[in-house]
Amino acid sequence: MARKKKKVITYGSFDLFHEGHYQLLKRAKDLGDYLIVGVTTEHYDRLRGKLNLVDSIRTRMDNVWNTGFADEIIVEDHEGQKVEDIQHYGIDIFTLGSDWVGRFDYLKQYCEVVYLPRTVGISSSELRDARQKIVRLGIIGTGRIAPRFLKETSYVSGIEVTSAYNPERDSAEAFEKEYQVKTWTDGFDRFLSETDAVYVASPNETHSEYVRKALNAGKHVLCEKPMTFTYSEAMELYDLASNKGVTLMEGIRTAYLPGFQQLLSVAKDGTIGKICDIDACFTRIGSPGSREMTDARYSGAFLEYGSYTMLPIIKLFGKEYEEVQIESVYGKDGIDILTKVQFRYKDGMATAKAGAGVKSEGELIVSGTKGYIIAKSPWWLTRSFDVRYEDPNIVEHHEANFSGEDGLRYEIAEFMSKVNGTGGNDYKLTAGESIAMADVVEKFMIKRRDLRRTFD
Ligand code: CTP
Repeated sequence: MARKKKKVITYGSFDLFHEGHYQLLKRAKDLGDYLIVGVTTEHYDRLRGKLNLVDSIRTRMDNVWNTGFADEIIVEDHEGQKVEDIQHYGIDIFTLGSDWVGRFDYLKQYCEVVYLPRTVGISSSELRDARQKIVRLGIIGTGRIAPRFLKETSYVSGIEVTSAYNPERDSAEAFEKEYQVKTWTDGFDRFLSETDAVYVASPNETHSEYVRKALNAGKHVLCEKPMTFTYSEAMELYDLASNKGVTLMEGIRTAYLPGFQQLLSVAKDGTIGKICDIDACFTRIGSPGSREMTDARYSGAFLEYGSYTMLPIIKLFGKEYEEVQIESVYGKDGIDILTKVQFRYKDGMATAKAGAGVKSEGELIVSGTKGYIIAKSPWWLTRSFDVRYEDPNIVEHHEANFSGEDGLRYEIAEFMSKVNGTGGNDYKLTAGESIAMADVVEKFMIKRRDLRRTFD
């Protein structure tokens, strides 16, 4: 009787195919008679935090095939697939390089697990870094978000935070001491001259001026939301970026998350029919002294969280609404503790509700003629959502987890691919969409300023 073939399986991205990959595949093949290689999709790699793959899946599969070691190539596109494949293909040995030792021991209940020694001194990450000039990034503003941003940059290839700027000496010095990043308190032009790009994370009212200065100096800019308080200034800054040939991106991080992309695709693909209504709510009760709870001029509910709530509306219904109405509940000194923006479109309507100092259910609901999408709080850090229908027994659950806690690395990766010109079309948050949101911010500011006169 013929001996049963010993089947081996291994997985990888195999980006910028290198000697380490070759040796791994060779040894994997030597473990048995028949080698199956799972090559990851770009989407799956993004979910698991590999953000800057260079080669297409076609190229990566071709490169694996050209070694002559693989008898079959499959695509790996989801969490949990390894268990399915092992059972489906009747695998005898699962193998990976020694960088994964222990991580896949749970597969021992299905087959033998072998970790092969990794080839030293080479990796796709290093090759990716070597291909591009490292972008020197300066952080403007050393408040709460700066350390989180700094940490997240370490997950994106080709970027290094080389400096920070904050005119407030105490904050700057504390940041420099804790994070060992060279920090400037004056000499803004010198600070700029030693960077290729900046991340603007200063107080809201200072954003646009820093952006303008950085763009004028030919630097790429990633700016925290809201970038400006007026439509015309938003237009001016995007024009300036385009004239200078540099990237300008508004940091509404939800826009760059894979789960949010997936939610938008499902909303648009007809599953829930024609979209009629969108309800997006974000509320947070911050600490009593925090800016969003106390700065009645330049912070408050809408300026802090309104961008998140407008995002799904502008993405799904577009920039051309027929009417917008803004209503707020005001607290001490005229700060908005709750703001509701109601949009009327030709064939639909939408509500963006933001609260700072008011608590409500933070949901995103997209209602259509066949069903609706519901994403629970924190939907702005989209990890999953459901599609529901008239029949309450039918629920389609979508999971699209992301790596890290706050999703910032996806925004940074998008920024980097724009800076390097490898990002393809600018569809996740276009300049036009960002400008449309600035227009609503302007309407909000006018209304609140008029009201503030009664407080001043
Ligand atoms: N591998 C190896 N020796 C190396 C690099 C990778 O044996 N020097 C192995 C990995 O352990 C894995 C397979 O090759 O089993 C595919 O790895 P992949 O993650 O695609 O390659 P890396 O170079 O490790 O990629 P990255 O730097 O993006 O993590």
